[in-house]
Amino acid sequence: MNMTKVLVATDKPFAKVAVDGIRKIIENAGFELVLLEKYTSQSDFKNAVTDVDAVIIRSDIADKEVIESGKNLKIIVRAGAGYDNIDLAACTDKGVVAMNTPGQNSNAVAELAFGMMLMAARNSFDGSSGTELRGKKIGIHAYGNVGKYVAEIAKGFGMDIYAYDPFVSNEAIEKDGIKPLNSVEELYSTCQYISLHIPANEKTKKSINFELLSKMPKNACLVNTARKEVINEEGLLKIFAERTDFKYVSDIEPACKAELAEKFAGRYFFTPKKMGAQTSEANVNAGLAAASQIVDFIKNGNKTYQVNK
Ligand code: 3PG
Repeated sequence: MNMTKVLVATDKPFAKVAVDGIRKIIENAGFELVLLEKYTSQSDFKNAVTDVDAVIIRSDIADKEVIESGKNLKIIVRAGAGYDNIDLAACTDKGVVAMNTPGQNSNAVAELAFGMMLMAARNSFDGSSGTELRGKKIGIHAYGNVGKYVAEIAKGFGMDIYAYDPFVSNEAIEKDGIKPLNSVEELYSTCQYISLHIPANEKTKKSINFELLSKMPKNACLVNTARKEVINEEGLLKIFAERTDFKYVSDIEPACKAELAEKFAGRYFFTPKKMGAQTSEANVNAGLAAASQIVDFIKNGNKTYQVNK
């Protein structure tokens, strides 16, 4: 019988310590690790999948073509939270189990949200007089794994903390000492800072629009460590034009970056690459969880974190 092959396909590589840990788990299980890092084209990814049983990815695009090229493919694990980069229907059609590793990189993302908030509050550290976070209202848009870490850190900063999440009960939010609000409109009209933690799906794409952003109080700052796709960029450009007090900080630049750069310099910050989860701790947590989930699925059939049906 051929040895089980596990491909780690990461255009944005894990820290070495994480790759070493993944290798140990895979090899201890008697499997073989295949590494494809910083690949230059989607066809490199597609070719690498051809003869493997399992794949670990990050934000890599696991589209229909990739999934279908995996002749022996049984499982694909997104080492991270958002799985909008996987064609779930293609996985289901081919009988491939798709999983994520929820919670494993959440603290890293929450810390980046605060790093960017401080940048906005301190005018990108340009030497001018900025503002403080203490006492300011922060609205956590979706109270999941990252949202909870954001709340915890916000307490340390002495912020006034609100959250809106239609999938989490008010009681659960209150239990953490956070004020729940009952609509997205209420969250945006209450909070000077909004930290976005919604997934990108058919319901949420382009949902953060001009109407919502225009409700934000004076000196509004939108912090996006979620996905650029949830922003309605026409609305974003409009709010920048109408509200000179509006700032936007985001983990990964929007498509309209050139226009923002031309007209609204100094009021935004974008990471050059999505790097919320780019810490060795998050790489280790998510990478090792992905490797263990693969071993547990192949050896014992455990499908706990399956995201496709
Ligand atoms: C996630 O969904 O887990 C984060 O966006 C991290 O993505 P990354 O693994 O590409 O850094």
